[in-house]
Amino acid sequence: MARFIDELKRTHSNGALRASDIDQEVVLFGWVDSRRDHGSLIFIDLRDRDGLTQVVFDPDASQEAHDLAEQVRGEWVIGIRGRVRSRGEQFSKKENKMVPAANPNLATGEIEVVVTEATIFNKAETPPFEITDQIDTREEVRLQYRYLDLRRRPLQRALRMRHTINQATRNYLSSQGCMEIETPFLVKYTPGGARNFLVPARLHAGKFYALAESPQIFKQLFMVAGYERYFQIVRCFRDEDLRLDRQPEFTQIDIEMSFVNQDDIFSLVEGLVFTIWKEGLGIDLKKLYPDGHFPRMKFDDSMRDYGNDKPDLRFAMKHVDLTDLVIEHGGGGVPFWQPIAEKFRSGVHRRDLPAEIVKCMVVPGDAGLSRTDTDKLEQLAKSMGAAGLARAKVGADGSWTQSPFAKTIDPNLRDAINSHCRAKENDLLLFQFGKANMVHTVLANLRVHVAKKLGLIPEVGHGDHWNFLWVVDPPLFEWDDEQKRWGAAHHAFTRPHDESVSLLEKDPGRVLCHRYDLVLNGFEIAGGSIRLHDPDVQKRVFSALGISDDEAQEKFGFLLNALRFGAPPHGGIALGMDRLAMLAAGSDSIRDVIAFPKTQKGTDVMSDAPNPVSPQQLADLHIRTATEGS
Ligand code: AMO
Repeated sequence: MARFIDELKRTHSNGALRASDIDQEVVLFGWVDSRRDHGSLIFIDLRDRDGLTQVVFDPDASQEAHDLAEQVRGEWVIGIRGRVRSRGEQFSKKENKMVPAANPNLATGEIEVVVTEATIFNKAETPPFEITDQIDTREEVRLQYRYLDLRRRPLQRALRMRHTINQATRNYLSSQGCMEIETPFLVKYTPGGARNFLVPARLHAGKFYALAESPQIFKQLFMVAGYERYFQIVRCFRDEDLRLDRQPEFTQIDIEMSFVNQDDIFSLVEGLVFTIWKEGLGIDLKKLYPDGHFPRMKFDDSMRDYGNDKPDLRFAMKHVDLTDLVIEHGGGGVPFWQPIAEKFRSGVHRRDLPAEIVKCMVVPGDAGLSRTDTDKLEQLAKSMGAAGLARAKVGADGSWTQSPFAKTIDPNLRDAINSHCRAKENDLLLFQFGKANMVHTVLANLRVHVAKKLGLIPEVGHGDHWNFLWVVDPPLFEWDDEQKRWGAAHHAFTRPHDESVSLLEKDPGRVLCHRYDLVLNGFEIAGGSIRLHDPDVQKRVFSALGISDDEAQEKFGFLLNALRFGAPPHGGIALGMDRLAMLAAGSDSIRDVIAFPKTQKGTDVMSDAPNPVSPQQLADLHIRTATEGS
């Protein structure tokens, strides 16, 4: 073994050799991907992160190497020295003649290496699952042996793509004058935003650090400090409920710039995304977006037509708001709708404030959804908190069947709804009504679910459809129905539109702001804002939020202090790197593009984290567990 590595250095990776290398003497290292014993000849596919090379052990070339190959098994780590030769020809029974033996599916498929010397670096136990592209092993098992899972090609490709994205990002942002600067992970806990992980401070009994949910405040401080353009590829930590596109620790491409407006930030990010797609995926987005810009949609329009602020624009099926029609017709004989119409009539509800609404979505008749299908849709709606999923099948004369409303609805309202939705014979109307939030959530999810079911979007993979969209001009405040007061829709340092500032006191619900999200195929891949650097407007925003000066000082003190020392106008954005990589890889889970992800329950099944610690460790941290203390 000493001869290999010490004397015999690796000459090529296992994905490198081509026909032009024939007759060269080479040294290869790698893992045994497969081994075929053809009596006198033993074939091994040798694998590394770059690919596979077929190596041949022929006793005529080396009896010693052949003897060694007889012992070798899958996943053993070996080294070989040999000569590259053409794979030549083989007899095809199908074609009844000699045909080239090349494997067109392999980059190295034209050649093989005849081994003259070999060594075993290490043996391996039989792995718990096969190291191959397609496996149906449970994800839990794959995560438990992630280092084996990472040997598989789909993961190798994903991690290599992330590497390329990282490189492209660093090069592009550096070329745009951004400086990569690091920020702390152990920070002060500040309320609002995502829930923080807390870290006990051993040196300060009873006190805690928070793990940074993003570098937000620090990057703003870089602007105050005059660094002008910053970026960081940075890990963020959020103690949230997990989903397929969420991890407790994830990576952002974080950006902040001074003396810029929204358009400047959009241009920078568009340039970045174009570069990433070109270098990471070999796709020229200029073909789809010839002017170099992504389209924009107002937040309100997105909510109205799609029920959320991250619409998937690869298909239509817009939602239709029926609230005005229902109000106009006094509920139109539908028992559920009458009280809603009444609340608007009596002024309990206002159309310009979040209230109860009535919406529907039209599923085209030719989709051929069966009754069982629609029953399943109702189950889905219920699982999202809906009371049910009222529906109506439209007849040739506009009548409704298979509907709880068919008997009671005023034909005038029914006809008005049909025409408002442009419903045709056999179309299926799906209704939701009640609190706006619930209606939007349910219909937004149903829209995507039905589209998948109807094959309007691929289940996994994204083909050539890259529907980027900026969602802009959202409200600054969000009504908190439980606490009956306005809260910051994003964070309290977002700059309101100049023309909205006069509404801060009299009509907070209508204050729009310079916040923006970048959406790709229905996923939010980036979010940011132009920040509020004017202390007077800042004060008024706090007061609209019911935050007193003292409270503001207590919560955001160091940022507020800094903003008093000459803060330039500034703004920024953060791209969710993992989501970007997930979509670029055509995957349907963020875990597929993270080397060591957590499970849906936030655990690491490989190392068994989180795990209990000893009473002594807890004592050192001045912590007593609830059970202990009770
Ligand atoms: P925001 O909270 O919108 O903005 O986050 C930016 C982007 O990060 C991604 N993301 C996540 N990805 C995986 N798992 C998660 N748990 C997760 N949470 C967020 C999303 C999102 O669009 N400081 C601000 C940015 C700014 O204002 O400049 C921020 O963090 O793709």
